[in-house]
Amino acid sequence: MQKHIDPAVIKKVEDLRQALHRHNYRYYVLDDPEISDSEYDRMMQELIELEAAFPGLSSPDSPTLRVGATPLDKFESVAHSLPMLSLNNGFNDTDIIEFDRRIKKNLNTDDEIIYTAEPKLDGVAVELIYENGRLVTASTRGDGINGEVITSNVRTIRSVPMLIENGKDKSIPSLIEVRGEVFINLEEFRRLNDERLGQNLHPFANPRNASAGSLRQLDSRITAKRPLEIFFFGVGIVSDLVLESHWDTLVALQDLGFRINPLIKPKITIKAVLNYYRELVEKRHQLPYDIDGMVIKVDSFRMQRHLGSTSRSPRWAIAYKFKALQETTRVTNIEVQVGRTGALTPVAHLVPVNIGGAKVSRATLHNEDEIKRKDVRIGDTVLVQRAGDVIPEVVKVIGSKRTGEEKTFKMPHKCPVCSASVVRAEDEAALRCINTACPAQVKERIKHFASKGAFDIDGLGDKLVEQLVDKGLLFSYADIFRLNEDVLENLERMGPKSAKNLIVAIDKSKKIMFSRFLYALGIRYVGENAASILAREYQRLDNLLSVTVIDRNNAIEELKSIKEIGKTIASSIVDFFKQDANLKTVNRLFASGVEILHDVPKEPGGLTGKVFVLTGTLENMTRSEAKKVIEEAGGKVSSSVSRNTDYLIAGSSPGSKLKQAKDLGVEIIDETTLRQLMIDV
Ligand code: IVH
Repeated sequence: MQKHIDPAVIKKVEDLRQALHRHNYRYYVLDDPEISDSEYDRMMQELIELEAAFPGLSSPDSPTLRVGATPLDKFESVAHSLPMLSLNNGFNDTDIIEFDRRIKKNLNTDDEIIYTAEPKLDGVAVELIYENGRLVTASTRGDGINGEVITSNVRTIRSVPMLIENGKDKSIPSLIEVRGEVFINLEEFRRLNDERLGQNLHPFANPRNASAGSLRQLDSRITAKRPLEIFFFGVGIVSDLVLESHWDTLVALQDLGFRINPLIKPKITIKAVLNYYRELVEKRHQLPYDIDGMVIKVDSFRMQRHLGSTSRSPRWAIAYKFKALQETTRVTNIEVQVGRTGALTPVAHLVPVNIGGAKVSRATLHNEDEIKRKDVRIGDTVLVQRAGDVIPEVVKVIGSKRTGEEKTFKMPHKCPVCSASVVRAEDEAALRCINTACPAQVKERIKHFASKGAFDIDGLGDKLVEQLVDKGLLFSYADIFRLNEDVLENLERMGPKSAKNLIVAIDKSKKIMFSRFLYALGIRYVGENAASILAREYQRLDNLLSVTVIDRNNAIEELKSIKEIGKTIASSIVDFFKQDANLKTVNRLFASGVEILHDVPKEPGGLTGKVFVLTGTLENMTRSEAKKVIEEAGGKVSSSVSRNTDYLIAGSSPGSKLKQAKDLGVEIIDETTLRQLMIDV
């Protein structure tokens, strides 16, 4: 029996839900929060506790479901009321011009057709059904006719509205099916994979797989921990709204609280579409998420209806795909490389191919298990992929090109560089050379030490490190600081000038931030991210060392208590600093003049008292990052333009704030000017 619940509690729960929905929208859709994260967390916690105390108040729309619901046994299937079609592909301008010509022919017109062009996100398509403003069902695209019901998982995506707000001058449609693409941004993807590596889990191959895997979790509490985002790109069935074009629809969706990609170019001619494609090709690698092309849609619904669809795809839209970052080529040899931690990595030597503008002549085969799984042999024709800034990899063998002449490859039983034994730890895929003095390991450790995120020694490149190690001039990190011009100028490809420059760079690198220092040590699993977390937590090396000297288990527990530091990373750090040899290495660095710099408390910034408003998409930072830097420099960020606004920072596709700023005579600046202001004022 339901107990009587105090009306004050009911009211409190309703208020909290409403406030949390609103703050969620401001943060995740508008990127313009009104309250601090800790305030949000506090409200969420209060609601969780109230719902736990009064189960009768539970609701499928509660913001608490953003953290996940009871796990399912299996996914139900659901039929889409309108099929979720696929898109035809075009690969060059001619294909697109032909598409435009076909449209004109079918519509029997010579007039310019008006299109809307949008980035084609490389994620997972979903459909969300809202009845009377409430999210009732979310499903995957499936085969386009039937999808899988993933409602609890989709509810965990913060930029998905659980309830639709009243739009401007509009009431809430009694039924609306919205469609969009779920994705993970690249920075979060890297972080997710780092975290997985730290937990000895297989990393995801790419952000799309990570999104798909996260959406197909039977336990939505796992999905809730994944950094999923969504952009909406269309609708299925809609009641009550009169929509005349695709762009109208996107504007209406935005008005109802759905997140729309700000890079969409509305209502343009085919010529502008082609120019926009070039712009996107340029911009593609600066975007925080993966796109694999552009989608071009006839804007008018009247025309779309006239053109119709085939069973597979609409005639009114086409995907203009980017050049594939995959090519086929032949494996001429397989070589084994020894890494910094002794891991043996098989690398395929390839007949060089151009992939997306870069010459590729080697690709990783990861490890023994992967070679077996893909059955890669010397002489095979293979598909090679280059994704973003990662090392090219062999995706698969093109079986039909096998001649029978190919040679299978076996991993060696000894280190190919120093002949020491190799071992394979129980829970690992990699074989490792056990000799820490192995010249290959020494070279890789020193390359890492001198690299950009570490000591950043300009001029101490890979080839030079190899020469110095081979000549016996470098063995330990500290040896770097003992190099002198006389020694250096006699090396291959060095002269007095480059020797002098290198010594200056080495000297300069001696003053180093704590996080870089930690990263440079090459502790297993401690990447740049973990290093900066540790640096922030402990501030000084002494503080960290005082933890690692205590009993091993206690030390691991203490490190694990830090958010984002798991057991693998924690054990690795403790074991590193428990070895005398490593402590000696560190002390030798200090004896050579290395000095760790620490963060100094910030001076009041140069933007004190200035009020900023942000609009549009910024190029090098998100709006929340911009907000953070401005606030750190003493400025204020406001969400609307008024007479008190000092500057409007306008990115691309600015909103109505641009006009308001112009009307009020507020100074309009870009990101570069913002940076200048921070230095000049
Ligand atoms: S429109 C009939 N717009 O591409 C219209 N799709 O190959 C079909 N996609 O399944 C979808 N970004 O997953 C559309 N801006 C966008 C898109 C987009 C990515 C994906 C979507 C769809 C696939 C079609």
